Amino acid sequence: MKIGIPKERREHEHRVAATPDTVKKLIGLGFEVVVERDAGAGASLLDKAYEAVGATIAPDAASALKDADIVLKVQRPLTEAEGGPDELALLKAGAKLIGFLSPHANPDQVKAYANAKVDAFAMELLPRITRAQSMDVLSSQSNLAGYRAVLEAGNVFGRVAPMMMTAAGTVPPARALILGAGVAGLQAIATARRLGAVVSAFDVRPAVKEQVESLGASFVEVESEETKEAETAGGYAKEMSEDYKRKQSELIHETLKKQDIVITTALIPGKPAPTLITEAMVRDMKPGSVIVDLAIEAGGNCELSEEGVVEAHGVTIVAYPNLPSRIAEHASALYAKNLLNFLTPLVDGETKTLKLDPEDEVIQGTRLTQDGAIVHAAFSDKGN
Ligand code: NAI
Repeated sequence: MKIGIPKERREHEHRVAATPDTVKKLIGLGFEVVVERDAGAGASLLDKAYEAVGATIAPDAASALKDADIVLKVQRPLTEAEGGPDELALLKAGAKLIGFLSPHANPDQVKAYANAKVDAFAMELLPRITRAQSMDVLSSQSNLAGYRAVLEAGNVFGRVAPMMMTAAGTVPPARALILGAGVAGLQAIATARRLGAVVSAFDVRPAVKEQVESLGASFVEVESEETKEAETAGGYAKEMSEDYKRKQSELIHETLKKQDIVITTALIPGKPAPTLITEAMVRDMKPGSVIVDLAIEAGGNCELSEEGVVEAHGVTIVAYPNLPSRIAEHASALYAKNLLNFLTPLVDGETKTLKLDPEDEVIQGTRLTQDGAIVHAAFSDKGN
C-alpha cells in the first residue's frame, strides 16, 4: 500500500504529517511512502532526509497523491473556493484521508469526502481513552501551543517575568493568569512558572484545581453548585448557565486588574469559544499587560482579539492562529508520531493492508465517511 504525504498549503501552516523518523517506521511496516517535494521544509525536514530512509520524492501534490491508498495530512484539504488547488480532487476513490479535518466547522466538506468516496478520519475526534493517548493529536499540539503562548507573551512584554534583585533596584515578578486549564493551559502554567512568574489559573471544571495547584499555581474559583456538572463524561467542558457566566465574569474582571500576562485557552468542542474577557475588562487592566488568545480560531476568548497583534487601552493582545505551526519542527515530530501510533495497530502483519475493526472505538470515534456515505454519528444527520 502506498502512503502519500503532500505539502501543506494552508496559510500559517508549516507542519508536515510525517517525518523521516516516522516514514522509516511506516516503510518498516510494509508501506511505500511518497513525499511531495519540500513537504517538510517548513519544519526543517529536507527532502534528502526523507530519501535517506527510503521515501520517494514526488515533484508535485498530484503525483504524490495520485495512487495513494492512505493520505496523511495536517490540515483538511484545500477547496477551490478557498483559492485551491482542490486537494480532495487529487485523491483516488477508496483512499483513506487522515488528519485534523475540522468537521464541526466544515460539515459540507464531510459530505464532499463521501461524494469523492474518500474514507476520511478526523484525528481531533479521537476518544480520550488511555489506549489512544499516544495518538492524541489535540494533546500533543495543545501542549506545544501552551508553551509557545508564554514565549509569545514574553516577546511583546515590556517587563520581565522573574523577580530580580539587582544593584539598580528590585523588580517584582510578573503575575500571569491562565484562563482554561486543559492541556494547553497546564503547559502554559508550567512554562510561566519556569520563567519565574507568579501564576494563577481558572477553569470551569473543578477537577483541574488539583492539577493547577500541583504545578505551583493558585486556582481562581467561582463559587457555584453548577461546577459539579461542568464536565462531560469525555472530560470536556460544557457551556455554562447565564448566572454562572455572570459570576465568572465578575471574578475574572477583578482578577485581571492585577495581572501582567494573561493566556486564554478556553474551548468548548464543536461550539464557538466562550468570551471571557470583554473590552471593559481590558480597559481596567494595567497598561503594558499582554493577553495571548489561544482560542482565536474558534472566535477567541477576548472580545477585542483579532488575528495577529492588536493594541487596545494600553494592552497588547496577541492572537496568532495555529501556534503549534510556529514551532513546526517539534509539532510535526509529535503529530507524525501520533499518526504512526494510530496506523500501526491497524496494519495486518500478513497482508500488509489496513484492517479496520468497525467495533473499535478509535475507528468509530474518528471515521467520518466510508464507501461514499457519512458514517459518523455526529455528522450523519447534518451531511445527508
Ligand atoms: P479544550 O481544549 O477543549 O479546552 C481547554 C480548557 O478550557 C478546558 O480545560 C476547559 O474546561 C476550559 N474551558 C471551557 N470553557 C471555559 C470557560 N467558560 N471558562 C474557563 N475555562 C473553560 O480541553 P483539552 O485541553 O483538550 O482537555 C479536555 C479534557 O481532556 C481535560 O479533562 C483533559 O484532562 C482531558 N484529556 C484526557 C486525555 C486522556 O487521554 N485521557 C488526554 C488529554 C486530555
